[in-house]
Amino acid sequence: MKKILFLLLSFTLLVLTACGNDQATKTTDTKEVKETNESMEVNLYTARHYDVDDELYAKFTEETGIKVNVIKGEADELLERIKREGDATAADLFLTADAGRLFRAKDDGLLQAVSSDVLDEQIPANFQDEDQMWYGLTKRARVIVYNKETVKPEDLSTYEALTEDQWKSRVLIRGSENIYNQSLLASFVEIEGEEKAKEWAAGLVANFARDPEGGDRDQAKAIAAGIGDVAIMNTYYLGQMLNSEDAEEVKVAEGLGVFFPNQETTGTHVNVSGAGVVKTAKNKQNAIKLLEFLSAPEAQGEFAKANYEYPVNESVEPTELLKSWGEFKEQNISLSALGDHNAKSILIFNEVGWK
Ligand code: FE2
Repeated sequence: MKKILFLLLSFTLLVLTACGNDQATKTTDTKEVKETNESMEVNLYTARHYDVDDELYAKFTEETGIKVNVIKGEADELLERIKREGDATAADLFLTADAGRLFRAKDDGLLQAVSSDVLDEQIPANFQDEDQMWYGLTKRARVIVYNKETVKPEDLSTYEALTEDQWKSRVLIRGSENIYNQSLLASFVEIEGEEKAKEWAAGLVANFARDPEGGDRDQAKAIAAGIGDVAIMNTYYLGQMLNSEDAEEVKVAEGLGVFFPNQETTGTHVNVSGAGVVKTAKNKQNAIKLLEFLSAPEAQGEFAKANYEYPVNESVEPTELLKSWGEFKEQNISLSALGDHNAKSILIFNEVGWK
């Protein structure tokens, strides 16, 4: 009986929600609604937690009249939620960090292909999924950061060189459960092949300053604490620390140099945060419009300013801080490859004992 009551209640709620949507559409541009058969809203599930994102959604609503309903959460939780909700999910667009994780959403059958000339113009092909199921929106570089007092930039060259004896007990990096590292290793599998990638991972483990712990920021702090001398981390964390309200974080970041590895060889590893339209999206056209808005020059500039990430839109300049770290050559691969080799990378990490 309880179950029946619950079902009845859920049904009533559903009807009520649907009514709410109807009402909203009646008061908005009816021509638009007729054209797309969609309400004037879009439901976004996002793993990003930045104020600038909310400001951009407000601006999007101002420009288009389309309301953005935002649900925030951890990436894997949101993915599970979309799966659990099935066809009934409200999610129209899924936004998260890392191409490896976007691949998981695609691989789980949660996304759909969309085509848009605007997206193709604003986002380079290598930062889109090869089947156009997701699009990169911000770009990040995974670099070598070093203690300016104990390491000279001339001592550094490539990710591979960090496996040499001179770096014994000096290398810091977070754990292998982390998707950024899985994608980094996946990029080596793509470029150098599985054997070389495994050699690198094993060599790096042999030079670890400690068992991996914490996030990227914690590696920077461990350099300041004298635990190691070099760390592999994403540059935007350094930007965040330099602009932190915590004086200690600023001090840590000021003692560090940024080095873009593999400039003479395969290029520095880059990744994206990005988004894909959910397979069952009820507001597909609105979701595409939001993607187009977020990859347009204005939003790209805001992302870069607020979170120290690189724009994917090549017509937009990086910020002064990013420019101060220098220009660099990127790995020349399609980011789809990071997903293709994700499972293989996890196996390699396990084999070489990277915790
Ligand atoms: Fe991050």
